[in-house]
Amino acid sequence: MRYGHFDDQNREYIISQPDTPLPWINYLGCESYFGLISNTAGGYSFYRDARLRRLSRYRYNNAPFDVGGRYLYLRDNETEKFWSPSWQPTRTKLDKYECRHGMGYTIIGSTANKIEAQTTYFVPLGETLEIWKCKITNHRKKPAKLSLFSSIEFCLWDAQDDSTNFQRNFSTGQVEIVDGVIYHKTEYRERRNHFAYFACSEKLAGYDTQRDTFLGAYRSWDNPAAVERGKSFNSVACGWAPHGSHHVKVNLKPGQTKEIIFVLGYHENAGDKKFSPPDSQTINKTTVKPVITKYLDGKNVVAAFQKLKENWDNLLGTYQVTSPDIHANRMVNIWNAYQCMATFNMSRSASFYESGIGRGLGFRDSNQDLLGFVHMVPSRARERILDLSATQLKSGGAFHQYQPLTKRGNHELGSNFNDDPHWLILGVGAYIKETGDWGILDEQVQFENEPGSEQPLYEHLRRSFNYTLERLGPHGLPLIGRADWNDCLNLNCFSDTPGQSFQTTTNKEGKVAESVFIAGLFVLASKELATIAVKRGLPDEAKYYLAEAAKMEKVIYKHGWDGEWFIRAYNDFGQPIGSKVCKEGKIFIESQGMCIMAGIGLDDGKAKLTLDSVNKHLATKHGIVLQQPAFTKYYIEMGEISSYPPGYKENAGIFCHNNPWIIIAETMVGNGNRAFDYYTRINPSAREKIGDLHRCEPYVYAQMIAGKDAPTFGEAKNSWLTGTAAWNYFTITQWILGIRTGFDGLIVDPVIPAKWKGFTVTRKFRGNTYVIEVKNPNGQQRGVKKLVVDGREIAGNVLPACAPQAEPIRVVAVLEG
Ligand code: BGC
Ligand code: NOJ
Repeated sequence: MRYGHFDDQNREYIISQPDTPLPWINYLGCESYFGLISNTAGGYSFYRDARLRRLSRYRYNNAPFDVGGRYLYLRDNETEKFWSPSWQPTRTKLDKYECRHGMGYTIIGSTANKIEAQTTYFVPLGETLEIWKCKITNHRKKPAKLSLFSSIEFCLWDAQDDSTNFQRNFSTGQVEIVDGVIYHKTEYRERRNHFAYFACSEKLAGYDTQRDTFLGAYRSWDNPAAVERGKSFNSVACGWAPHGSHHVKVNLKPGQTKEIIFVLGYHENAGDKKFSPPDSQTINKTTVKPVITKYLDGKNVVAAFQKLKENWDNLLGTYQVTSPDIHANRMVNIWNAYQCMATFNMSRSASFYESGIGRGLGFRDSNQDLLGFVHMVPSRARERILDLSATQLKSGGAFHQYQPLTKRGNHELGSNFNDDPHWLILGVGAYIKETGDWGILDEQVQFENEPGSEQPLYEHLRRSFNYTLERLGPHGLPLIGRADWNDCLNLNCFSDTPGQSFQTTTNKEGKVAESVFIAGLFVLASKELATIAVKRGLPDEAKYYLAEAAKMEKVIYKHGWDGEWFIRAYNDFGQPIGSKVCKEGKIFIESQGMCIMAGIGLDDGKAKLTLDSVNKHLATKHGIVLQQPAFTKYYIEMGEISSYPPGYKENAGIFCHNNPWIIIAETMVGNGNRAFDYYTRINPSAREKIGDLHRCEPYVYAQMIAGKDAPTFGEAKNSWLTGTAAWNYFTITQWILGIRTGFDGLIVDPVIPAKWKGFTVTRKFRGNTYVIEVKNPNGQQRGVKKLVVDGREIAGNVLPACAPQAEPIRVVAVLEG
């Protein structure tokens, strides 16, 4: 069953039924102020850091799933009936409902009792606030006397502390209510220079700022006392749970519409200008007032919304495709790119499956996110690379995560995920290929955020490379450390105590367990680094990198090849994992994808053989599972991977993140039919028709789809924040459609289904717009035989980067057998 449909023209997904199988969410904001919003207005907001600067409170794992959000209540003052125009939290039956998730905004509209309400939620560019613009229309034949109540529950800033330290928190809450604006200022009296505000464009009939007064004892969000009786209590929060609610009376003639604007925002004052008068405890509102006034004016809201739309037109305009496949088109042109923005901003911190308190920005994750983001806002990608590399350890290793607010490495989690450093090489490579900005390599960057430790970024890449060579195991393969890409393959953990973290517990010295995956990644990264070294005029260094890569390849052939596929790893006993000698976990996806992406096996048929093994053992109709056979029990020597029931997560789930590695490998052997088939199996838009099984949003990727061993085979989980976004985007745009960034220009190398007659890509690249028409008259899967640029045929398949030109550059590429 479908719960909505795509509106590609407007770049929206329109949900037509509020009780979707799971909350189907969207993100507001893309710079520093962010919000998560579900199709029933659930969710929360924060400034920069979901843990440390949480504006509004949200309780995860609730029942129903999604409670707490940006709520409005409408009340008919004559009948005393009330309802939520976004369905939640009252869940009153609506006569019409529609939620439109768009690029950085969500519009939820409904009709009940002949009253239509439509609320647009968005964050204006450059601001640290969100707007809820509510339009109410009276479709009755007689006048309507209504009350509108707003509701937001404030979080006491540190979301972790907010949900645990009640003996203190119940006594710290403070607010101010001035000119109808509710200011939330908990801890402003001491070390915080920031506060939140919640303003309304209308004259208020009342307000509430103490949650439990608004709700009433033993009541909940579905029947707040203030709403039920039709009158706020004018409560002033002092301790307990500060809350923001405005009460506005709305009297409408038949057919009349009224627009009411709410603004929820974050504001900082200079440390010495916090109070006014200075010796008081009253917030100095000099700098916040103009912002509030601006956005309570409908004209400015319309203009800001327009700007947001233009910004997205511009961002998405960097890569647009018209192909024969509607699902590929809409993911490339709209949703996959959009999801890449969310993963870039959030890493894996705040979604409906990531609580925003557990994880900062991952080193490995953020570097991979760059692959799908770098073309949109290269300057932000640059900043991210420099921030990430500043958390790199002197050893070349990396803090596994860092907090976005402080930009410091997370000591609790530490380091020793031995794949981490290489992702930096790939991230930097992707950035330079996009921009041609070689200067980034000369940026002076600290190690471990230590002043005085600055070295050029290039030196960071060298150390990434060395890190592996200094940590080789008994077979000459890289030692795995705590884990490699697969966080759950914890070969040094050996945990027998409930509750111990698989990520941080280490009971072995770590001198034996090795990873073939890291070996492949090392080869891939070393080749990239060698190319960079040549460009820096360091040919000898480049040779050395290539020689080490070649050595590693040999080791992979010797100890990492199992006959029909690549072994995955060696455990602490020196036994192979992912080999036909294993009882369970005979074949894993990761080493197949990574080794072939590194070029291993392309010349001698091993890549093809490997991909056939993947097809035979791992491919299913819902995607490619992570390994087979699934682990049927817990193996202490394997770690978290065997903690999951078969078919879920890393234990033989379909990890959508690394399906693209196989897809890229398929393109490398020229198998366009299979590459696109695999691509489509996990494409959320193509899965829209099986919404009841898939359950997650049909417009974004989920981290995982349950594998064939699971009772819920085909069910997706953990949508939005996943490396899946960047990898799928990278794969379809650069490897299948094959318009790929190179250090010297744009490579044209499509590997497509034979039945495609062609497609067109518009790509903005280094100051030029290329309109590339690919023709496939003879049903080929690969092979550009003719490349015509602005009417002139050129040799090879690279469009060399050139000075910006006024007109688009027209390219025709013909595939021929
Ligand atoms: C999950 C992994 C994740 C890790 C992060 C594990 O429980 O299965 O997918 O990367 O946690 O800490
Ligand atoms: C999710 C993590 O964010 C990512 O870093 C990891 O590679 C995958 N899970 C696989 O475990």
